[in-house]
Amino acid sequence: MRRIILVNQKGGCGKTTTAINIACCLALKGKKVLLIDLDPQGHSGQGLGVQPDLIEKSIYEVLSGKIAIEDAIMPVRENLDAVFSNIVLSAFEQLMAGKPGREYTLTGSLAGIEEKYDYLIMDSPPGVGLLSFNGLMAADEAIIPVEPSSFSLDGLEKLLETICLVKEKAGHDLAFSVLATNVDQRTNFSKKVVSILKEKFPDNCFSTIINSCTRVKEATYYGKPACEYDKKCAAFFDYSQLTEEIQERENERREKQKDKTEVVFHCRAPEDSMVQIAGDFNDWTPETLQLVHGENGSVWQKSITLSAGDYQYKFLIDGNWTPDSKNMGMVDDPFGSQNSVISV
Ligand SMILES: Nc1ncnc2c1ncn2[C@@H]1O[C@H](COP(=O)(O)OP(=O)(O)OP(=O)(O)O)[C@@H](O)[C@H]1O
Ligand SMILES: [Mg+2]
Repeated sequence: MRRIILVNQKGGCGKTTTAINIACCLALKGKKVLLIDLDPQGHSGQGLGVQPDLIEKSIYEVLSGKIAIEDAIMPVRENLDAVFSNIVLSAFEQLMAGKPGREYTLTGSLAGIEEKYDYLIMDSPPGVGLLSFNGLMAADEAIIPVEPSSFSLDGLEKLLETICLVKEKAGHDLAFSVLATNVDQRTNFSKKVVSILKEKFPDNCFSTIINSCTRVKEATYYGKPACEYDKKCAAFFDYSQLTEEIQERENERREKQKDKTEVVFHCRAPEDSMVQIAGDFNDWTPETLQLVHGENGSVWQKSITLSAGDYQYKFLIDGNWTPDSKNMGMVDDPFGSQNSVISV
């Protein structure tokens, strides 16, 4: 399952519109898609014609551990399921205050549905709080919609700092792509913002631009994605093109990873620990493991994609370097201790 989050702390830049339209376009192409709304405003549901007060089992119940995600999934279109939200979700941050590993709550909830979907599309709230962090930790990649305004450019800089923080502090390497949305190509300012984005992010900016289109606003009002409301409108064309670009990027990524293997490292440690892994594969820079709750108890884990070869590594549990107790392969390290070794 490819996990994509629409994120930008700036409000009203097209996160929800993009989330529901790419989810629908992928579903129209026959991909199995799950849409998760992490925004207490509940706009994803409204954009698909589902009113927030009709949502009995929402993402809040899942994140607060009351139900499994499977029980909150609603089929909304052919190939498209969703877990919606409503205002109750605003209580999540307070509910989780002080709990260790709270940024990984969503990641842990997704364990059982990994094989059921081709794509997970997550809509996030404006601002960067615990809900957005949960989305970022659960995502492989972030799409950052930017509508042409100087506030948006400022918001983009701040979000990129957050993505760097996610990598530095949590060791989660999140790919990101910038998407120009709601662009009125008749104005010089819009054109200027688009060219700034392409210049600043030559490898991380979608070629597709989402043009400003009044049919999008109408579609939102009628609770429909643009691709259902009017298949002749510019937005449907733009979102179809964006979906193709997203799929092409996946093909390029697969091509690059063809000769690589995904290795899942496991470590048992108390739930309130800080568990990291470092080795030859990450220049011995500790990366954080995620706590996953399974039938046989909780375990810390991290998957790392590796090329063929031998790699030495160790876990770092609450600051103490510890070899992998499940791996018999060991070699002496230069400090009189031992490193675990894995052959890929
Ligand atoms: N391409 C477009 N053309 C015209 N209007 C658009 C376009 N994209 C989005 N809009 C409109 O802009 C408004 C904000 O869009 P949207 O709700 O998707 O932003 P958002 O980033 O999710 O906002 P929030 O941060 O509040 O969640 C909506 O009224 C939507 O209909
Ligand atoms: Mg929104």
